[in-house]
Amino acid sequence: MKILSIETSHDDTSVALYKDKEILKEITLSQTEFHKQYGGTVPEYASRHHAISLGIILDSLLKEFDISDIDHVAYTEKPGLIGSLQMGRLFAFAVALALDKPIYPINHMFAHIYSVAFTNDIIYPSLALVVSGGHTQIWYVKDKYNIEIVNETQDDAVGEVYDKVARKLGLGFPGGPVIDKLAHESATSIDFKILDREDSPFSFSGLKTKVIDYIHNKKQKGESLDIPGICKGFQEAIINNTINKMKHYINKYNPSSIILGGGVSANSYLRSEFKKLHEFALIPDMKYTGDNASMIAIRSDIINGEGT
Ligand code: KG4
Ligand code: ZN
Repeated sequence: MKILSIETSHDDTSVALYKDKEILKEITLSQTEFHKQYGGTVPEYASRHHAISLGIILDSLLKEFDISDIDHVAYTEKPGLIGSLQMGRLFAFAVALALDKPIYPINHMFAHIYSVAFTNDIIYPSLALVVSGGHTQIWYVKDKYNIEIVNETQDDAVGEVYDKVARKLGLGFPGGPVIDKLAHESATSIDFKILDREDSPFSFSGLKTKVIDYIHNKKQKGESLDIPGICKGFQEAIINNTINKMKHYINKYNPSSIILGGGVSANSYLRSEFKKLHEFALIPDMKYTGDNASMIAIRSDIINGEGT
């Protein structure tokens, strides 16, 4: 099954040419550098960038490949920034119409879950943790068609809190990778442990306030900041809380495998703690952790094509 897939839900414009679990080509133009100056994504600019980038990517793809033999076109339908999604959708429809091929809408969250399918066979039922800049969710994956939400954040997403804490510490955007690195190297850890029930909905605004208040207090008193120690304590608090909730739902649902996905699944501490949770803990290849069109293609192959 040969698929042309498009992902434009947020600030990456990504197009992939996929054939039977192999990526023939993926081209991603990231806007992260541009949005850095605003400390986060500006939706209107994101849509405008997608409009330009999609044309550039298509030109480049057509220089290398004949795409007239694809079986179908797949694109991210939701969730995401409405203007950004619309750009991808219009582009996908134009290509499908020009080539007279079927077109399939794909759920971005389910595509994150199926990123692990490039390197693993999913054993059902499964329980999936999807953690990104916009989402923190646990899904019960009964089979490839029946996927139900089990828990999701009531306020900030895990990646969002990483980004906000990093901004407060002057570490730049996105905050996840740099906090991950500093935490890994730190010998000290400041205690920010989240005290809640394992079955309560995810909520990270309390943790965010605690860390930001701590930084304020230290600064007001003119005391020096142990930045790596703050990073390590914060990372342990947010990841341990997430892992504890996964443990609770693993006991409740007794899944045959567990799956990790989303931008924060690149986190080294989360990856190592997640592996300890289950004999069949499926973790995506690093290149499929963030937003990418390849995951849209594999999810589409699995539900609309011949993939399993
Ligand atoms: O899925 P993603 O690429 O984009 C959307 O959220 O749509 O996720 C981006 C998020 C950012 O918040 C970023 O800080 C976080 O993933 N992230 C990480 C790491 N790498 C990226 N968070 C923690 N540790 C990392 N190593
Ligand atoms: Zn995403």
